[in-house]
Parts: sequence; C-alpha cells; structure tokens
Amino acid sequence: MTALVHYRLDGQLALIGLSRPPVNALGQPLRAALLEACERAAADPAVAAIVLHGANGLFSAGADISEFGSEASSAAPDLPGLLVRLTRIDKPLVAAIGKLALGGGLELALACGYRIGEPQARLGLPEINLGLLPGAGGTQRLPRLIGAESALNMILSGKQVDVQHAHLMGILDRLADNPETLIEQACVYARELLAQGAPAQPAARYPSPAVDLPEGFFAGFRAEQEARWKSRLAPRLVLAAIEAACLLPLEEGLAREQDLFRQAEASRQSAALRHVFFAEREAGRIPGIDPALDMRPIAKVAVIGAGTMGGGIAMNFANAGIPVVVLEQKSDALERGLSNVQRNYEISVKRGKLSQAELEKRMRLLQGSLEYADIADADLVIEAVFEKLEIKQQVFRTLDEVCKPGAILATNTSSLDVDAIAAVTSRPQDVIGLHFFSPANVMRLLEVVRARRTAPDVLATTLKLARRIGKLPVVSGVCFGFIGNRMLEPYAREAMRMVLEGASPAQVDGVLTGIDLNMGVLSMLDLAGIDVNYLVRQANKAAFADDPSYCRLGDELYAMGCYGQKSSFGFYHYEGRQRLDDPTVEKVAERLAGELQIPRRSLAPQEIHDRCLFMLINEGIQLLDEGIALRASDIDLVWINGYGFPAHLGGPMHYAEQLGLDQVLDGILRLQASLGSHGQRWFKPAPLLKRLVAAGRTRIEKF
Ligand code: 3HC
Ligand code: NAI
Repeated sequence: MTALVHYRLDGQLALIGLSRPPVNALGQPLRAALLEACERAAADPAVAAIVLHGANGLFSAGADISEFGSEASSAAPDLPGLLVRLTRIDKPLVAAIGKLALGGGLELALACGYRIGEPQARLGLPEINLGLLPGAGGTQRLPRLIGAESALNMILSGKQVDVQHAHLMGILDRLADNPETLIEQACVYARELLAQGAPAQPAARYPSPAVDLPEGFFAGFRAEQEARWKSRLAPRLVLAAIEAACLLPLEEGLAREQDLFRQAEASRQSAALRHVFFAEREAGRIPGIDPALDMRPIAKVAVIGAGTMGGGIAMNFANAGIPVVVLEQKSDALERGLSNVQRNYEISVKRGKLSQAELEKRMRLLQGSLEYADIADADLVIEAVFEKLEIKQQVFRTLDEVCKPGAILATNTSSLDVDAIAAVTSRPQDVIGLHFFSPANVMRLLEVVRARRTAPDVLATTLKLARRIGKLPVVSGVCFGFIGNRMLEPYAREAMRMVLEGASPAQVDGVLTGIDLNMGVLSMLDLAGIDVNYLVRQANKAAFADDPSYCRLGDELYAMGCYGQKSSFGFYHYEGRQRLDDPTVEKVAERLAGELQIPRRSLAPQEIHDRCLFMLINEGIQLLDEGIALRASDIDLVWINGYGFPAHLGGPMHYAEQLGLDQVLDGILRLQASLGSHGQRWFKPAPLLKRLVAAGRTRIEKF
C-alpha cells in the first residue's frame, strides 16, 4: 500500500485515510492509491463498512488543479470513474469530513452513502472560480440530495458552507462534537449503520430533483442571469448540467456532466482562471526572502489621516480584531472620519452582514486621537494624508521622532516616490509603501511597495499581515504610480485621445466592457475623480510636456469643474445612478481637436481595443523588464483585483499571451505607423516584447 493512503482495520471497519499534504488534492497517484485501498476493503470479507477520512485532519480540497489541461487530469483511474466504483461497493462508506471538503473532495464524500462532519469543517463546490463545473458527479448527485435549486445556487456561488448549514441542507447526515473525536464518531456511526442493516447507498432524497421547480424554471433563470454572466462559459455549463440532472437518469446525467466538464476544462477561460489561482499563491513568494524569516509582531496599528482612505484602512484592522489608533490634525476631521466608519458599519448591520454587537466591538478597537504620543507604541503606522510629497515627508519626520524603534512606517501614497519619503527618516529600512485601493475596506488588492532600503523582515511582515486582514498583497518596486497606476496612465491617455479623434466616451468604454471589464476606463476616471487624476498628472508633468494633446480632454474637464460622478459631470453626465452621454463633452472634444489640428473620424471597435489594451500590455511588459513587477502574473493580479480586469481573461499579461505576443507587437507597430506623430511618440514597443517575439517566446517573462 502506498504512503498516499493509510489503511487500518478496526473490528469490522476499514479506515482509509487520505495522506497527500497539504490538501489531499486528488491527483492521479492519490486516486490510484484510494481505488486500491477501497478495492481491498471491498474484497475483504472481514470488512463490513468503510470510513474514509483525511489522515491529517483535512478531508480533501478536490481535484489536483495542476493536472487540468494535461493528460494527467483524466489518467486512470479518473475521478468520475473512481467515484462511480465507490458507489457500487456493497458496503456502507462513511465520509468523515475534517476541515475541508471542496470540489472533487466534496464529490468524493457525495459518492459515499453517509457523511459526518466536524464543527469547523467547510464544504463547497468552488469549481466555478476555476471556470469549471463539478465534474465528478457533483452536478448530478447533489441535486438528488438537496434538490435542484439549492444545488444550483451552491454550485454557481462557489461558496463554502459551514457544517450546520450543510446539515440543514441535507448534505451531512451527522455532526461530530469536535475535530478530535471525528473519526471515533464516524466509526460509531458506521457501526450503527451496520447494526441497523442500512444499505450501502440510501435511496436518493430527491430522485427527481426538479420536483419543486416551477414550469420554465431553467429558461427563466438563464434569462435573468445572462447579463450578469457576461461572456462567462462556466455558469452556462453548470446550468446545463443541473438541467440534465432533472431530465436524465443518473448514469446518463453523469455522462452529460463529463461532456460539459471537458468543454469547460479545454476553454481559455478556465486556463485563465487556473492561471489566476496559481498566480495568487506565487505572489507571496519573494525571491531572496526566506519564508522562515522572523516576523515583527503587529499588535497595534496607527493610521494617520481619517479621510476617505484612512477610515477604510483602519476598518480592515478593526475587522481583524487588531486595535487601531486613527490620528488627525483637527478634531472636526477626526469626528467626520470616525462617523464615516461608524456609518459604514451601520450599513453592514442593516444589510444583515454584521451584528450590532460586532459593530460595537469593532468601534471599540478604533481609537481617535490628535496626539502623536498616542501612537508611540504602535507596531505599524500607515500614513494616509494628502497626496503631496512635502506633507508626507513632514509626517514621516514626526513619525521618526515619536515611533518606537522597529515600528514599521508605511505610506498609502498612490504614486509618490517612497524612497524620497523614507529618506527623511533615520530608519529607511523600516519604511514601506502600502497602497490600498478605494474603498479600502472592500478592495482586495494591496500593492506593497518595496523601497530601495526596505528591510526583508519589514516586507515579509507586511505580506503576512496583509493576508491576515484578508487582502491580496502584490509586491511592486518604486516608480511613478507603481504597477497599477503606471499602467493606467497610457491606457487612460489613449482613451481620452480617441475621444478627441472622434470616438464617444460610450464607444470607448463599450469596447472595454465588451470584453467583460467591469467598467470602461472613462467611467472609471469619473468614479475615481477627474480632479484626482489631474493632480496625479501634474505631479508627473515633465514626462509628457512634449505632447500638447496629452490628456487635454481630462485637463479641460478639470478646468470646467467637471470632476466626474462627484460633480454629476465628467466624461458622462450623471442623473442619480444613471450614466448618460453628455453632448457638452462631444463639443469640447471637437473644439480641442480643432485647436490641436487633430482630424476627427470614426474609430472602429478593433482600433479602440488595440490602442487601449496594447498600450496597457506594453507598459506592463516594460514594468517587468525594469524589475518593478517581479513576474507577469503579479501584474495580472493587480489589474484583476484593483481595476476590474476580468479574471476569466487572466489579467492583461495572460490576455496578451492568449492573443499572441507577435500579434501584440505587430499591432503596436501598425498603430505606430498609422497614427502619425501621435503613433511615433507613444506607440513604442517595449524592448522586452521585441526580444520575446524575436526569440519565438509565447510567455511573458524576464528574458
Ligand atoms: N489542487 C492542487 N493544489 C492545490 C489545491 C488543489 N485543489 N488546493 C490547494 N492547493 C495547493 C496550493 O496551490 C498551495 O500550494 P503551494 O503551497 O505550493 O503554493 C497549497 O495547496 C496550499 O494552498 P493555499 O496556499 O491556498 O492554502 P490555504 O490554506 O490558504 O487554502 C484551500 C487552502 C482553501 C484548499 C485553497 O487552496 C483552495 O481554495 N484550493 C482550491 C480548492 C478548489 O478549487 N477545489 C476544486 C478543484 S476543481 C475540482 O475539484 C474538479 C472536480 O469537480 C472534478
Ligand atoms: P482625503 O483628503 O480624503 O483624506 C486625507 C486626510 O488626511 C484628511 O482627513 C486630512 O485632514 C488628513 N490630514 C492631512 N494632513 C494631515 C496631517 N499632517 N496629519 C494628520 N492628518 C492629516 O484623502 P484620501 O483620498 O483619503 O487620500 C489619502 C492618501 O491615500 C493620498 O496619499 C492618496 O493618494 C492615497 N490614495 C487615495 C485613493 C483614493 O481613491 N482616494 C486610492 C489610493 C490611495
């Protein structure tokens, strides 16, 4: 017997423990070992029932994601076939679920006749997050256990449920008292089943899962969700599979699920989402930093500035149970900031997402202050004052004076030079950038800006802390705008320029939302504030001084006081929550084009796509070459989690690889030639892109 599975007899019971740390991913070797163990138990006349469990506590996180897209994924024994075999063993199987049963792991448990879970366990079918559907019977067995509608909701949400919920839904038959007694209680359960003469597989609770569904349910559901699904394939395949569960006998339904699963697995969308899964795990690995490095303890945090960002940043720590002092200059600003936080929590309470007691607990963790003395013992200080280098440097001089030795001093600047901020302190090794995104209590991305002298343990500590507060940290080097905002610059520049050339804002944005971006870039600028964007531009003016047309439309709107959503006018006109085309913008664009002698014409969607996206991609490749980003997949994470780039396209770098790097290079060169002086000035392929294409490489990597 291979070490991947532990096999032990206890009276009439065979205990089979999955042992492939860290998560018992059901790759081919584990599948083979599991099949062998189950056949052994099936064939042993001394064995009357089988208890299946995770040898190290955790049951299974599902199929081995790294096998997808390769032959290993369906190598014998394949998971669906293995599970069918388990359902045919003529002895009761009890799944003892510890910690996690996800995806194929839960499907394994569903193939067992009986299931018991410990109180901390969580169950789910998260395949949808990988652009897949459950492919080992989940779409067929779950509806027969809990009904089609509940199964559909669980599979489409991809969310985990706790054991109480799973018990109520009927997924679990029993709850164990605690993780330590799980296996013992599973054995007791198995013996009870034997004593009762229970069948190996109990009769399905919903033999025809559609029984409670209204007429036309599936067509109605599809019509309702179509817009939300955009061009995502997986939700449509899930729906088809659940529909099959309602229409077909189990065996045929399983075959249909297989067809649909293979279609999903072979799709570009799933490849992109699997790329994102591994990218998120890779982002935490920093070359040259030992994961075993001692971390600095973080028990108390301080935030300087209680504005839009400061309040949201402070909430993250209170949410994680970490005390946080919020420091302001003036009492009215402090009161306003704290009451904004309170109001945010109250909204969550109203929506039933937070209890009143939890609100009070979190507010107690937040302490307002006007005195630097109150933050002298903070382990981490995050500055979120106005975006002006001199003001930030002044704050850091004070921090240097008052903060205890070893405190980490962070700035939330979205573009300024973190080295220049660190330089005014006597401890630049303790200074780092922590660029939260707005709203800071909601957005998952955290750009961690490693300055020239940031100490390795400061970087490692902030990465770990970021995960503790539920953020996805991505490391960036120092440059104007870091990874995200630096790439936003050429992307936004082209969008604004195309409006001067004759495209409407809605046309530009429509092309971008047409490939499933959450928002077009011009709507995004309206949301973030045309004034904010203008001020950022001013701080980097010299870089663009040679182009009089550079972001002229944005400058003009700023001068007119059209700051975007906040002033109801920007690239669009806003009436309440409605976004409308604004004829004034068209007129301004026409006037500016005349002044700048830019001929107006109509622009094809392909041109709009290429100009925005290729400039975005080109800048990303350049950032990688400069070492600002450690890897292409980090760039993808920034754009997916900070700028609404669709995860099922894998982020801009993965998207470029799927388009073909040679196509991207050709496109840039074509635009360089066709756009006159604008093309000559801006459409310069990144040297790394040229090198990759010349070498016939198809992946974006340092080279
Ligand atoms: N396959 C392969 N590797 C996996 C895996 C899986 N299903 N789940 C986790 N891992 C790996 C991770 O890549 C990571 O490896 P690394 O240390 O080399 O980077 C390691 O296990 C630990 O994972 P995390 O760092 O994510 O650890 P956490 O404790 O934060 O999270 C988890 C654990 C909740 C299990 C999380 O990893 C997760 O969500 N995994 C994916 C679960 C999933 O999507 N399952 C469905 C798979 S598809 C399927 O089953 C198809 C079937 O229907 C046929
Ligand atoms: P804001 O104007 O809403 O808040 C700034 C707050 O800092 C004000 O309440 C002000 O009273 C306070 N302040 C100013 N000087 C201070 C000092 N010396 N000591 C204590 N408090 C002081 O600004 P916002 O939007 O919160 O931005 C703060 C920082 O976050 C800026 O660096 C900005 O670039 C960055 N940022 C902003 C994002 C956004 O979308 N608003 C996104 C990401 C970063």
